[in-house]
Amino acid sequence: MASLNTQSRKHARRQQIRPLAGSLLALAIGFGVATAHADDALPKLPSKTPLKVGFAQTESNNPWRLAETKSFKDIAAKCGWQLVMTDANSSNSKQVSDIQNMIAQHVDLLVFPPREEKPLAPVVLQAKKAGIPVILVDRDVDQSVAKAGRDYITFIGSDFIDQGHRAADWLVKATGGKAKIIELEGTTGASAANDRKKGFDEIIAKNPGMTIIASQSGDFARDKGRQVMETLLQAHPDVTAVYAHNDEMALGAIAAIKAAGKQPGKDIQIVTIDGTKGGMDAIAAGELGASVQSSPFFGPLACDVAQRYAKGEKIPTWVKVSDRFYDKSNVQQNMQYGY
Ligand code: AHR
Repeated sequence: MASLNTQSRKHARRQQIRPLAGSLLALAIGFGVATAHADDALPKLPSKTPLKVGFAQTESNNPWRLAETKSFKDIAAKCGWQLVMTDANSSNSKQVSDIQNMIAQHVDLLVFPPREEKPLAPVVLQAKKAGIPVILVDRDVDQSVAKAGRDYITFIGSDFIDQGHRAADWLVKATGGKAKIIELEGTTGASAANDRKKGFDEIIAKNPGMTIIASQSGDFARDKGRQVMETLLQAHPDVTAVYAHNDEMALGAIAAIKAAGKQPGKDIQIVTIDGTKGGMDAIAAGELGASVQSSPFFGPLACDVAQRYAKGEKIPTWVKVSDRFYDKSNVQQNMQYGY
């Protein structure tokens, strides 16, 4: 679900950052040459079939990533796209070089989820300089380096801050406003991790009975989440709640909690984000309390945006995706949305 005319506070903030007239953006120390004139128009997108589209994935180590990649494969033929696909295997530098290879191949359009906000920003400017339009999906880049509407067409994605708010609101209710929380953060430097932390921590700070006793990255990965939780459980045996930035880390935490002889969902309340099939099954089993959905189905949205852009339509700088919410009250009737 998404709307092309959605406004938001973050979007409004972006609009306030005006480029200095006539200035050059000096960029990318350590990431290769990337200078772009702030006032240059965005590259045009030809209306042709097939359109050569580069999709540079970050990694393929969880159901969310697999569902995202599948949504691009599924839409390609229907959208008239000839896809060039890469997988960065959880490496920022590989994702940058994958994208640089696509630029060298002169793809018509680049679509990608930037693994981290800062390291992936300069390559957006390199694409612009090469005359290739870019759509960012899922995660965004550092707006002080590359800016939506000026350096790339748009960001299509969820409101990660709001996801953090929704997770925290659920946890406050579920614990009666009293909890000692371990936070399992996503990939350090990823917009999804930065903003999910910001949103959650904001609400917790307003609840004096709720304390974040430890917060550490599990890199959005199940086994890393399990290992981190195992260590933190030893250091903080008094923990009563877990907030994981994604379902995979929550599932890893559940394994660690059980291994420590505690009952997830009873001794320790767990809230998370994604709405994967595995997460929804854990809610049904009573081990996971709730999951805020984070939709990975960007293929059709990117196709729609690209077609509108090619026709000359004005695209908002943020195409915001709205997400569902699952807990024990509604998980069974929503199982068809799991992935
Ligand atoms: O950026 C979205 C996050 O990335 C998803 O929550 C996570 O599962 C994925 O790896």
